Amino acid sequence: MADQSTTSNRSTTPTSERFRDFVRKGWAAREGGDAFPHVAASYAKTRRHRVSALRPRERIVVPAGPAVVRSNDMEYRFRAHSAFAYLTGWGSDAVPGSVLVLEPSADGHRPLLYFRATAGRDTDEFYANPEVGEFWTGPRPSLRDVAAQLGIETRPIAELGDALRSGSGTLRVVRDADAEVTALVDRLRTPNDGSVEDRLLARDLSELRLVKDSYEIAELRRAVDATRQGFDDVVADLPAIVAHARGERLVEGTFTRRARAEGNAVGYDVIAASGAHACILHWMRNDGPVVPGDLLLVDAGVEVDSLYTADITRTLPVSGTFTPIQRLVYAAVLQAADAARAVVRPGITLRDVHDAAMEVIAARTADWGLLPVTAEESLAEDAQFHRRYMVHGTGHHLGLDVHDCALARREVYLNGVLQEGMVFTIEPGLYFQPDDLTVPQEFRGIGVRIEDNVLVTASGSKNLSAAIPRTADEVEAWIARLSIADVRHSGVRIES
Ligand code: GLY
Ligand code: MN
Repeated sequence: MADQSTTSNRSTTPTSERFRDFVRKGWAAREGGDAFPHVAASYAKTRRHRVSALRPRERIVVPAGPAVVRSNDMEYRFRAHSAFAYLTGWGSDAVPGSVLVLEPSADGHRPLLYFRATAGRDTDEFYANPEVGEFWTGPRPSLRDVAAQLGIETRPIAELGDALRSGSGTLRVVRDADAEVTALVDRLRTPNDGSVEDRLLARDLSELRLVKDSYEIAELRRAVDATRQGFDDVVADLPAIVAHARGERLVEGTFTRRARAEGNAVGYDVIAASGAHACILHWMRNDGPVVPGDLLLVDAGVEVDSLYTADITRTLPVSGTFTPIQRLVYAAVLQAADAARAVVRPGITLRDVHDAAMEVIAARTADWGLLPVTAEESLAEDAQFHRRYMVHGTGHHLGLDVHDCALARREVYLNGVLQEGMVFTIEPGLYFQPDDLTVPQEFRGIGVRIEDNVLVTASGSKNLSAAIPRTADEVEAWIARLSIADVRHSGVRIES
């Protein structure tokens, strides 16, 4: 719905003066909206102060981004850029096209939030503009209400261009959020090219998010809890999932239903991978059957309305019990996950966490005779043979983005010292491709990943996703409790 010209051929909105006169009148006075301070507002203010301290005197432009076109005149559901959400506290109800500007002031920066507020009844917009009219997309909040909710001065978006043109100081922009705003800033800075400094700003904003504040941790806990419910739903639906030719799609649908009910959406596309599909790390086609006897790998996370997301993986035996070889592989992955979490505490690095998991992965794959060298030799930097069976990393930071803080420098991310308040995933796996001749036949086509979301505490760590069954025995009991009982009631048979 980006451009009215694309809808003009089929538009039937009347244009007569008599109609326009009629449609503008006869509306009840607008009630004041929700003008209470949002709980995120004070946290966002503290975050903006930290940006100020890092980048004094710069004029910092942080767009929410436009609605993204899916095809023709239809758009994807809007989701604000994470830097914008972080610095405003505005979540799933942010208005597309909004822009936060931090203007240098005597004591740091003065924040100004530009957005397109509700159009008055004296305009044509509210009924005739499919892009933003409230008859089409619903009412937008007023400048006054948003100012009260977020504790930020608000301005009409129409004033942004003049404001950026007239102020003084060096402009910096989060470049990947909104191409039009970036182009405007670039024009205003010509002939100077500020893009290199812009990228340093993006890096700084990414690094600021490495340590979570208490609001963020509470939101991540809510995301994990909603995700727990989504996994329960999938387990409970296994009989119907098995009965459908594209059972993986039902897994996706069941989880997404919970994500939409409890939160904003899924934080990334659900990975629902039955059997050998589990060996395709980002399997998101999800168009295969879920077959009794196979393992079902589900990697999914609910993004709550504040836009924080969980990222959890569980691997389930579809028929309710692991075969001996599945259990063997599962136990190795669980051991790697437990070894990784055991080392987590302030002062070590994410690389240490990875190394702890890799020691187990190397040891087990060596035990099974899969490596051409010993486990110890394989762990050498120039060997790494065990990584054939787990090519991905052991974890990543988690927050507003599933791969949070991705622009942070390696020396503060992978090699950075862990601090209390950091949240990351621990997600070792083992994947034996169906055509991998280095592994015995019975291993081929087995893929297992166990992924938890871990908070660094003062003395160690807390597994935020511990309530989702993890051990092989717990997983079997979970399926028996939620699913097999259903099977008996529904009369659907699960073959084993
Ligand atoms: N959950 C997908 C990933 O971490 O890449
Ligand atoms: Mn992950």
